[in-house]
Amino acid sequence: MKEKFYITTPIYYPSNKMTLGNAYTTIVCDALARFNKKLGKDVFYLTGTDEHGQKITQSALKVGKSEKEYLDEIVADTKDLWKLLDIEYDKFIRTTDDYHEKTAQKIFTELYNRGYIYKGSYKGWYCTPCESFWTESQLVDGKCPDCGREVKFQEEEAYFFKLSEFGDKLIELYKNNPNFLQPSSRVNEMVNNFIKPGLNDLCVSRTSVKWGVPVEFDKEHTIYVWIDALSNYISALGFLGEDDSLYKKYWPADVHVIGKEIVRFHSIIWPAILMALDITLPKRIFAHGWILFGGDKLSKSKEAGAKECVDPRVLVPLYGADAIRYMLYREIPFGSDGNYTTEAFLTRINADLSNNYGNLVSRTFSMVKKYFSSIIPNEDKVSNDDSDFKNNVLNEVEAVKKYMNDLDLTKAVTSVFNIFTYANTYIQKVQPWVVAKEEGGEARLKTIMKYLLEAIRIGSELLYSFMPEASTKVLNAFGLDARAEFSNLDNFNGLEVSSILGELGILFPRLDVNAEIEKLQSFVK
Ligand code: MSP
Repeated sequence: MKEKFYITTPIYYPSNKMTLGNAYTTIVCDALARFNKKLGKDVFYLTGTDEHGQKITQSALKVGKSEKEYLDEIVADTKDLWKLLDIEYDKFIRTTDDYHEKTAQKIFTELYNRGYIYKGSYKGWYCTPCESFWTESQLVDGKCPDCGREVKFQEEEAYFFKLSEFGDKLIELYKNNPNFLQPSSRVNEMVNNFIKPGLNDLCVSRTSVKWGVPVEFDKEHTIYVWIDALSNYISALGFLGEDDSLYKKYWPADVHVIGKEIVRFHSIIWPAILMALDITLPKRIFAHGWILFGGDKLSKSKEAGAKECVDPRVLVPLYGADAIRYMLYREIPFGSDGNYTTEAFLTRINADLSNNYGNLVSRTFSMVKKYFSSIIPNEDKVSNDDSDFKNNVLNEVEAVKKYMNDLDLTKAVTSVFNIFTYANTYIQKVQPWVVAKEEGGEARLKTIMKYLLEAIRIGSELLYSFMPEASTKVLNAFGLDARAEFSNLDNFNGLEVSSILGELGILFPRLDVNAEIEKLQSFVK
């Protein structure tokens, strides 16, 4: 049986249209899902939307729509956007889906029956946009510590989850499973900032929020956002539903990928809920950093600091999904914050995609056409330069596999591009056009062409997870199926000798950076 791989994104708030920031997580999960599929695993990739809470009601009201009407439009736009960005998820969950609401209710009732939920009253500082209650000491200058906006004092009857009982168990969990929460710096943050000072019980119901899942046994209350939201990861698989075969097959998650601002919810509250329910914990939670725009986090309710348009709905038709995907893995070190600038984006397209990859492919294909009528030659006479080149390429393959296993996407994609850099350097060094003119040079020329084509094949196989569009074109020109599992990654025997190379157009046209910057500025109101 195939090994399974279950990966999730956070479910995003559809309080407004998705941004490049939300796209970031969805894109990195797509790369991980594709890569694991190519490794031969049975992959399940879940994403979706977190549709309850006051903020949704407020956003809908603002434009004179019902919540459902409003949400349906945003969800349709979100699905279109994911398609535009070549995201291939297996399931899109909406927390307003009937099966999810039922499971969330059952989970709440079960926690109550097990004595982990009790009724009390809540007093605290509430941030409406973040839907978070804060204690006095958590406030920063009297404002919400997450978003910096105004908070108001509120008191109401509410149900509480006994989070305070889980401090020691969580510390033990982190100790026994060093990979549970990554990057590891997040563990210290959780322990020092939240667990050591003592965990408070968690307010898990509201009477003032009407747009939510009613508590089964007390309909005045709706389930307060995090139990509802977090349980999506199991409700999507049919947990406590009519058919739980997916749950049996895919749970526990191999990785929940999230942004760093929701680490507390995923590494403290979620495992505590699962422990209370006696459910296996996810294997790994990976918190990536933020894409910063002009030093600011782009959020749905804040204006971006960037002067140029950063809306993927505009960028994809202009530059392609591959370019945006690549830019995000490459420029934002996975796990840390990174700046997005239009200039860096356009420069990457020119330097890495157009020059390094695109140009390599097109000049190699032209040479094979010129010297061998586009027929893939077999290797013949091999020199030291040729075998050094081959070894360098194969070493990078191992590096990519290792980095992907460590979820270091930035290093992985950089290693893929190292293959293309090696190939370009190799061309400069061995000068095939000189070899072609040498007497008896043909035997060596065959090797050079074969090695270049094999390096491009291997690089494109690896690139497929990151940039599916261009790599598929290249692999198809070799007569290969881009979706097939990896094969011949550790050797230069993956191409069918004597078969004919397909035709390829220009993969990434070179851009005039200044002209494109101006164009993108004109899209900003
Ligand atoms: N609904 C909650 C998550 C519940 S999960 C059970 C939520 N939604 S959100 O719409 O605010 O999305 C937050 C997520 O979007 C982040 O965790 C991150 O994955 C992604 N990002 C949004 N803006 C981002 C950046 N500027 N940079 C990187 N990721 C960002 O929180």
